[in-house]
Amino acid sequence: MSVHKEIRKVTTHTLQEMKLSGQKISMLTAYDYSMARILDAAGIEVLLVGDSASNVMAGHETTLPITLDQMIYHASSVIRAVKRALVVVDLPFGSYQGNTKEALSSAIRIMKQAEAHAVKLEGGAEVVESVKRILLAGIPVMGHLGLTPQSIYKFGTYEVRAKEEAEAAKLKQDALLLQEAGCFALVLEKVPAKLAADVAKSLHIPVIGIGAGNQVDGQVLVTHDMLGITVEFKPRFLRRYLDLNTAITQAVQQYISDIKSGDFPNDSEQY
Ligand code: KIV
Repeated sequence: MSVHKEIRKVTTHTLQEMKLSGQKISMLTAYDYSMARILDAAGIEVLLVGDSASNVMAGHETTLPITLDQMIYHASSVIRAVKRALVVVDLPFGSYQGNTKEALSSAIRIMKQAEAHAVKLEGGAEVVESVKRILLAGIPVMGHLGLTPQSIYKFGTYEVRAKEEAEAAKLKQDALLLQEAGCFALVLEKVPAKLAADVAKSLHIPVIGIGAGNQVDGQVLVTHDMLGITVEFKPRFLRRYLDLNTAITQAVQQYISDIKSGDFPNDSEQY
């Protein structure tokens, strides 16, 4: 008799339950099948197909150039790999800011063509009507406040956001607006830990932080940063769990040297 262990998929409800029971939520970015398979099997709860793919996968300086078609390509690769995690996909810059109709049609493309589980978009009051329109279509939405990289040319820097009272007050209002609109979770990026803790406490939806301290309901990092594939990016909030850049470099150098010396392939590595 074969015993199939049923995999309990992570849903937006799972995240809500986790917040209620005080269990922290783990989230990482993924942009391709092979990495998503490893992260999902390792037990990550949420995979974000972030528009950081624009930096990490395509080498752009900002997240602005990535297109909806490219996001759909990355998202569908991730979805094919995943058995358990909730897969959230960023709506890229220019695919939702125009009006609610545009936002809805972009979200629908992501859900239909990539078979994603939810979408994420940046901003508060400015995008709340679009959030509501997307939710009306039955698509779960994750919000994103604080440092919102799609607005980098408005901010001018990647410095910590909402240090001043006025910006902190707007962020708190926006967080409430997004919750009232029906967002299932909120990402808070690079804001003071005390502010993030206050927001997480005041909301009933989970707050996932990146550079927002540990008094929130979960954490997200860019996978390539935490695995040490990217090396130039060294913000204070980043903990590197591996130095894959060095490990890959050494492996590739060994491979080159084995080819040059005639050591590879050996007798057991040929037909
Ligand atoms: O695109 C991304 O990777 C993100 C995370 C930094 C939250 O939005």
